[in-house]
Amino acid sequence: MKVALIHRFGPPEVLSICEVPTPPVGDTDVLIRTEAIGLNFADIFARLGFYPAIPKPPFVPGIELSGVVEKKGKSVRDLKTGDRVLAFTRQHGYAEYVSVPSGQVARVPRQMGFKEAAAFGVTSLTAYHGLVTLGNMKKGDRVLLHAAAGGVGIASLQLARHVGADVHATVGSDSKMDLVRSLGAETVTNYSEDDFAEPVRIATNGEGVDIVFDSVGGRVFRKGWKLLAPMGRYVLFGFAAVANHNGIGKLRAARESLSVPLIYPPALVSKNVSLMGFNLYFLMQKKEYLRRAMKILFRLYARGVLRPVIGAEYPFDKIADAHRFLQSRKSVGKVVVMMGR
Ligand SMILES: NC(=O)c1ccc[n+]([C@@H]2O[C@H](COP(=O)([O-])OP(=O)(O)OC[C@H]3O[C@@H](n4cnc5c(N)ncnc54)[C@H](OP(=O)(O)O)[C@@H]3O)[C@@H](O)[C@H]2O)c1
Repeated sequence: MKVALIHRFGPPEVLSICEVPTPPVGDTDVLIRTEAIGLNFADIFARLGFYPAIPKPPFVPGIELSGVVEKKGKSVRDLKTGDRVLAFTRQHGYAEYVSVPSGQVARVPRQMGFKEAAAFGVTSLTAYHGLVTLGNMKKGDRVLLHAAAGGVGIASLQLARHVGADVHATVGSDSKMDLVRSLGAETVTNYSEDDFAEPVRIATNGEGVDIVFDSVGGRVFRKGWKLLAPMGRYVLFGFAAVANHNGIGKLRAARESLSVPLIYPPALVSKNVSLMGFNLYFLMQKKEYLRRAMKILFRLYARGVLRPVIGAEYPFDKIADAHRFLQSRKSVGKVVVMMGR
């Protein structure tokens, strides 16, 4: 079968298409015939060797895909051959066939195509876990959302508007602003050029926000932390700030990391604020939680609340170009790679 392999950590060119044997299927696994692959910013970090707990090269990256169950292990009860599914994988996803523990696989609604399914799992689950489970987002909450035009950003915006929260969004270029406005953001700032804090202070009458949903970190964290209102929840779930279009600039990474303020825990008590973090990659053992969350998210999809925006589509043999595009910071919505047979 075909896979996209990373031979060494580095630029998109280190990805190459190779032939390897189809993986074995364990008792609790299913073998999925891949139809579409969802690219994630985490894939860029994995390729650059900047992601926790990734294998040493050579390895096949990829954490999200959709396809059809081809075979199932003898202990698998809730899925059957021929089911249309999406799956979360811990790498190995850039492949024609992927063997995945069944707890990381969900049957997709009939009306959801493979392309949409590959764009739905990580984005919607990240938004749900961060904003609803951790952030306890409610009607009327003011939410500061960074990188709002990206895959996770759009799912977060859709979920927040559905709940009735007011979203103050940031994007990295003017060309992304209209899309984010059209999805219902109250204020939108191009934080590559303008200060994002002042418009939020003005819009909230100086009160600040109830939730900051931050996948950027660094200096953005420093500023956002100061915008948190009493009872505010800061949810940190990424560190895109250290990347640039060439990779991880050491100087940039050091500057951004040193910008994060040291937070003295007793100060959280007197300020009445919380700081939370998560990484879904290390939550895959929470099978029951994932199953319940996906059920809720598929329902929201069926009602038209959550609709992934697919900003770009690439064939499998151009997966390096897809990586280059996602890293360029020009993408909106999700970048999807189609297996195409
Ligand atoms: N912890 C978790 O479980 C989890 C799960 C999923 C995603 N994430 C994180 O959430 C973020 C969004 O993920 P995604 O896959 O949906 O990607 P994405 O938002 O579609 O793309 C990444 C976006 O990050 C923004 N960004 C900010 N600073 C950047 C920089 N220095 N270099 C490159 N991009 C920068 C860019 O948007 P602007 O130019 O508009 O700022 C870029 O388009 C990523 O940081 C990812 O690591 C975390």
